[in-house]
Amino acid sequence: MAEPIRVAVTGAAGQIAYSAIFRLASGAVFGPDQPVHLSFLEITPAMKVLEAVMMELDDCAFPTLVGMDASDQADQAFDGVNAALLIGSRPRGPGMERADLIRVNGPIFVGQGKALNRAAADLRVVVVGNPCNTNCLIAMRNSDVPKDRFSAMMRLDYNRAKTMLAKKANVPVTAVTNLAVWGNHSNNQYPDFENARIQGRPLSEVITDEDWLKNTFVPDVQTRGAVVIKARGSSSAASGAIAALDHLLSFRQPTPAGDWFVAAVLSEGQYGVDPGLVFGYPLRLKGDQWEVVEGLTLSDWGRAKFDAVLNELRQEREVVKDLL
Ligand code: NAD
Ligand code: LMR
Repeated sequence: MAEPIRVAVTGAAGQIAYSAIFRLASGAVFGPDQPVHLSFLEITPAMKVLEAVMMELDDCAFPTLVGMDASDQADQAFDGVNAALLIGSRPRGPGMERADLIRVNGPIFVGQGKALNRAAADLRVVVVGNPCNTNCLIAMRNSDVPKDRFSAMMRLDYNRAKTMLAKKANVPVTAVTNLAVWGNHSNNQYPDFENARIQGRPLSEVITDEDWLKNTFVPDVQTRGAVVIKARGSSSAASGAIAALDHLLSFRQPTPAGDWFVAAVLSEGQYGVDPGLVFGYPLRLKGDQWEVVEGLTLSDWGRAKFDAVLNELRQEREVVKDLL
């Protein structure tokens, strides 16, 4: 029997966690031979709901779930964990932008960044709570954990973009590869159709409707979260959970040959981004270490989108500079 992997989930009584936790416990994420220990963090008023989630987990009798505990103290919840899904934070409501949450949610990641010092040496941190890029920046700047262990989630944007392109080209989602999403999980992200491929061919050979790509596809990906909120009355939950788990696995499993995955990580200046920002890049794993895929090019139109999202992240950093 393998050693259990210890996974912390914050906001464990919330909507995204409710979709993620049962998959983590069931073996669907790490496989049927990998025992899992779950360590939940919530705010004190939500502990009762969390108790009910844990009752339901017991009631599933998952063979792979070898233990779980719950706390309202980050130090306890993060003790010895190998992975941390930082979900706990307020979601936006209709009419809000994710950046409107920055001063409400940002401070959460100061204390949690410090508490992550108690995690295991191989810790990987996935920040989901919005605005996730800048919250990730706050957590990493308040932690002694190596900065390359932190990432923020752009995977939902990637998954959304992939499906939209596949539908337009009338191909399965697996046919869409080499899809980058640059920058921020925000309305200014750039889902890059220019470098994407469909069935191995440049996307532009398959989808020739440039007007659709620029004026429908890009804004539809950028604003999909708000459209879901409008329709549902609350923000994407199941798709957010799936994306978080996809994201986690991309840092553990070999990257498919010739392709990449997408996450926001600490920039070292690649593609002209200010070093120190948490920026969405195409990544690939080399061993257990990620690297930014270099050498992609953008048109002037694409570069203008890229620069807009870069400026947005600079502004977000300015708004939280007292927390860094
Ligand atoms: P939710 O309100 O259903 O759940 C959030 C939970 O976090 C609540 O149970 C709350 O008690 C808990 N919480 C609040 N502060 C906390 C703290 N300091 N420590 C621990 N727990 C805390 O919200 P949700 O739908 O699960 O969404 C959670 C976050 O994820 C939101 O910020 C949302 O905007 C974000 N989100 C991000 C993406 C993405 O692609 N990056 C996608 C979907 C949602
Ligand atoms: C999403 O993209 O669905 C999430 O970030 C939730 C939101 O606020 O849009």
